[in-house]
Amino acid sequence: MIRPVRTQPERPPAFSYHPASTSGSNKSSKYAMYCEQSLLTRLAKRYGTPLYVYSAAMLRQRATAFDRAFRAVPHTLCYSVKANSNLSILRLLSRMGCGFDVVSGGELERVLIANRSAAGRVVFSGVGKSREEMQAALKAGILLFNVESESELMTLAECAAKLKKIAPVALRVNPDVPAETHPYISTGLHQHKFGIPVPQSRSLYRAANQAKSLQVAGVSVHIGSQITDVTTFAEAMELVAALVTDLRRDGHAIRYVDAGGGLGITYQEKRQSAKHKAEPEFAQKVAAYANSVIGPLRHLKVHLLLEPGRSIAGPAGVLLTRVLYRKTNGRKKFVVVDAAMTDLLRPSLYDAYHEIAVVEIDRRSRETETVDVVGPVCESGDFLARARELPTTREGDLLAVLDAGAYGMALASNYNTRPRPAEVLVEGESARLVRRRETMPDMLATESSLR
Ligand code: LLP
Repeated sequence: MIRPVRTQPERPPAFSYHPASTSGSNKSSKYAMYCEQSLLTRLAKRYGTPLYVYSAAMLRQRATAFDRAFRAVPHTLCYSVKANSNLSILRLLSRMGCGFDVVSGGELERVLIANRSAAGRVVFSGVGKSREEMQAALKAGILLFNVESESELMTLAECAAKLKKIAPVALRVNPDVPAETHPYISTGLHQHKFGIPVPQSRSLYRAANQAKSLQVAGVSVHIGSQITDVTTFAEAMELVAALVTDLRRDGHAIRYVDAGGGLGITYQEKRQSAKHKAEPEFAQKVAAYANSVIGPLRHLKVHLLLEPGRSIAGPAGVLLTRVLYRKTNGRKKFVVVDAAMTDLLRPSLYDAYHEIAVVEIDRRSRETETVDVVGPVCESGDFLARARELPTTREGDLLAVLDAGAYGMALASNYNTRPRPAEVLVEGESARLVRRRETMPDMLATESSLR
């Protein structure tokens, strides 16, 4: 078996370097990055760039790690569809028994198309569910509505009554705990639009109990995304545990605690040193997360619902992009690539860091340079990396933007009338196109031009 080399910082294990040619001598210094057993350069040639490539093995591994970490308690993994909603990924996860966290009628529809029988494992979150969306979810027979306001609760009661159904509800409470993450993706503070303050929730539970078409079933919470300090989850769960006890005392049958998502991943590998230890294996990390979540709830005998998105899909995907041009403005060097903020918005929107790897490398060459990796979109904010030290690249070289499996394609847009990328799902040596590249007719299909 060929041995992966690490000439650049650590990367997700499904994406590693192997000798570029298997037939040549072992002494070749040329290496290329693979996704599982599929050569990325081959995929780029076949499907074009920009291209999202996902590893099926890694998606499975990560979902399994969650299941193992929570095996001591009844639980359902409800993968958060918003992170990556590709039908094939939903199907793959549903086949493993996963449920889903959806936030729109569109996401629900995707789940139903991927696997109709997963409906009973769907939780519906979000502050602005419309009547139509509620009706669709009621008809599909989902597991739980996470309700975020009194008005929403009343609307849901009305919709359910009209359909002669009973809606299972949890209130999403806002625990008012600060999560150390980017302000745009922190949700658990009172100033955020999400959830219901804990003190108000008890009277609302009472109101829910009185509505014949509602069935109080749980408590839900989600404090934010990309949270790397797991003690924050424990803090939120302490509050939830106290609330569950109070609610049961009030006579409510609380079966479920939905702990939300939010477990962070390591985008920027810190080089191993006394100060910065390398990220522990994912399994260890999920185990620590599980302890934080389970600990405060241990005595309550609840069924846990988990809504991870990023931690399942993030490291399982890369965005392949080709170097179009190199240019120098004064002292600044730019590498212009064919992927843009329209394909991966995270760097522009959150100033997020994504590791960039050169797909074909020569171990003998140690030459590096500091560059901005930018896209073709007409905005100075259109960049994938700034002031990044990379091996020196040439026009035509292929780059892989790592950890792009979550909130990558899901946030892609047609700004500048750019077609959204294609997506490929790799399983060992085989690769399937799970979404073709958008075409000009696709982009124009919903428009009409005035005569
Ligand atoms: N559950 C709820 C109610 C959520 O709002 C979210 C994410 C999740 C679960 C999944 O969280 P995760 O496990 O993926 O952290 N676009 C941003 C992230 C936005 C997250 C929104 N809600 C980014 O690219 O970082």
